[in-house]
Amino acid sequence: MCGIVGYVGPKQAQDVVVEGLRRLEYRGYDSAGVALVIPGGASGVIAEAKKAGKLANLEKVIADSTLPPSHTGIGHTRWATHGAPTDANAHPHLGSERRVALVHNGIIENFAELRTRLEDDDHVLLSETDTEVAAHLLELAVAAGADLTTAMQQVCRRLEGAFTLVAVDAHDPDRVVAARRNSPLVVGVGEGEHFLGSDVAAFIEHTREALELGQDQVVTITRDAVAITDFDGRPGEGRAYHVDWDLSAAEKDGHDWFMRKEIFEQPRAVADSLLGRRSTSGLLQLDEMRLSDDEIRDIDKIIIIAAGTSFYAGMVAKYAIEHWTRIPVEVELSSEFRYRDPILDHSTLVVAISQSGETADTLQAIRHARSQRSKVLAICNTNGSTIPRESDAVIYTHAGPEIGVASTKGFLTQLVACYLLALYVAQVKGTRFGDEIEEVMSQLEAMPDHIATVLAGAEQVYDLARAHTGTRSVLFLGRHAGYPVALEGALKLKEIAYLHAEGFAAGELKHGPIALVEQGLPVLCVVPPRGRDQLHEKMISGIQEVRARGAQTICLAEEGDTRIEPYADVLIRLPKVPVLLQPLVAVVPLQLFACELATALGHDVDQPRNLAKSVTVE
Ligand code: F6R
Repeated sequence: MCGIVGYVGPKQAQDVVVEGLRRLEYRGYDSAGVALVIPGGASGVIAEAKKAGKLANLEKVIADSTLPPSHTGIGHTRWATHGAPTDANAHPHLGSERRVALVHNGIIENFAELRTRLEDDDHVLLSETDTEVAAHLLELAVAAGADLTTAMQQVCRRLEGAFTLVAVDAHDPDRVVAARRNSPLVVGVGEGEHFLGSDVAAFIEHTREALELGQDQVVTITRDAVAITDFDGRPGEGRAYHVDWDLSAAEKDGHDWFMRKEIFEQPRAVADSLLGRRSTSGLLQLDEMRLSDDEIRDIDKIIIIAAGTSFYAGMVAKYAIEHWTRIPVEVELSSEFRYRDPILDHSTLVVAISQSGETADTLQAIRHARSQRSKVLAICNTNGSTIPRESDAVIYTHAGPEIGVASTKGFLTQLVACYLLALYVAQVKGTRFGDEIEEVMSQLEAMPDHIATVLAGAEQVYDLARAHTGTRSVLFLGRHAGYPVALEGALKLKEIAYLHAEGFAAGELKHGPIALVEQGLPVLCVVPPRGRDQLHEKMISGIQEVRARGAQTICLAEEGDTRIEPYADVLIRLPKVPVLLQPLVAVVPLQLFACELATALGHDVDQPRNLAKSVTVE
């Protein structure tokens, strides 16, 4: 997830673009850059500046270099996906002749193949990004005589994956051209000027009139016009709307909190984390899996280490990895790991899960594992952070920056990465075969729609949360993969609503925790899908036990589960999905519940007391 800005009009483009980037910096902040068109007919040029680190670093470069005046420009603030956050990988990227400059948000899945072809034709690519290929292809097309709009249509037809592209051509100074597939892009409509942005925050101080683009559209902005086509050049239309949010709401896409915005981003975050994981032959491929097949075949034990929410993702991973690979898995809190003198050797794979990539407990744990000759694989959302840098292999999640302190989309994308890891190891070890892996991948690829369905029912959960502002304690119950979901639901409530909340494995209730149950106590129950095993029935027994003692049972159960109805005081429906994947949908109402309850209690949801986003002390 990156931030993108484009401008053409009478103002100084550099000022408009840099200001727009400042408004979008929450979308990514590991590097930033601008490109301006300096007109001059066939001798027009592109002036660019880019720098790793926060926008302030770019501003310093610009201040030191004094870019020439220009009225047409593009800019980018990056959240690295392919390639570390360095100056060279920062956007914009230019073609070989420096005639075309391009910024990109998304993932071009077939970039490796396009890059090989370009390099075979003697193109020198200067970065490790997937983006640069598109800049070269665009420049080839304009050099062959196409205008920038036609060139963009041609290039988009060759790209696979998700992308928003915005480009300028030095020989055509009054035009900015953009394209969109599965990544966001809006047009800001002004008087004698037009804007492009990943969202309206980029231009809201200049105009509140916006045009939302549809899928697979190309848009050309000049000072006086906006023209939209599809990738084949057929005319299209955008959806015009008026923005009535203020600036701070605009950064949050109209939501009151970053956390809520991030909850609603989960369908996209999950879809992005699944992109590009299958090769053309249908086999799973993991870009930065720097472990050889022999090393993977050698693994006889997996230990997952993580903290907080990431630890709960690890608990779900245990069910998936053991089921699909038959390799024994231990899950351990990273703060405890090295102090128990764990048994490790070269055939132990240690998987470190960390959204931030900087958690000190997890970092020390992987250092210990490596000192014992174990291989370490990181699952991480932050490209270039310390944990993946110090690991032997990495699977990046593509949630985009998580600003709310309480992790939401980070968790869901970690689950996706864990499923991918399990399937990949199964593929290499041969414990699962093509058809079965294909089937699970298809089920995973359907999850963004299922998550969207759950989000569409948010109002029911909000009403429930608002009815519980007087509650002092809440219990969460789950079984199997639903047990970590119960723990995560309780953690969310503790973190942001400051309520006493506890998650239990439902079967453990009778061994002690049932003593906590009293009249009216809310108990949220994650009900497993009905299957061949006894899980569902056993869960119902647990629910009956607490209900018989006066608890208010709030059950999350799949569509069509009528068996649960007599035992649920409140029933929240979940889409029908396999038990191992159910956490991806079941945790969403629990996130919404905590967010709304904390809001109703008047708490600062994004920055809860005593907490920090990244815990860099042990
Ligand atoms: C909970 C939360 C924390 C983190 C934990 C690990 O909402 O955000 O519990 O999950 O501090 O952080 P990472 O994943 O960055 O290592």
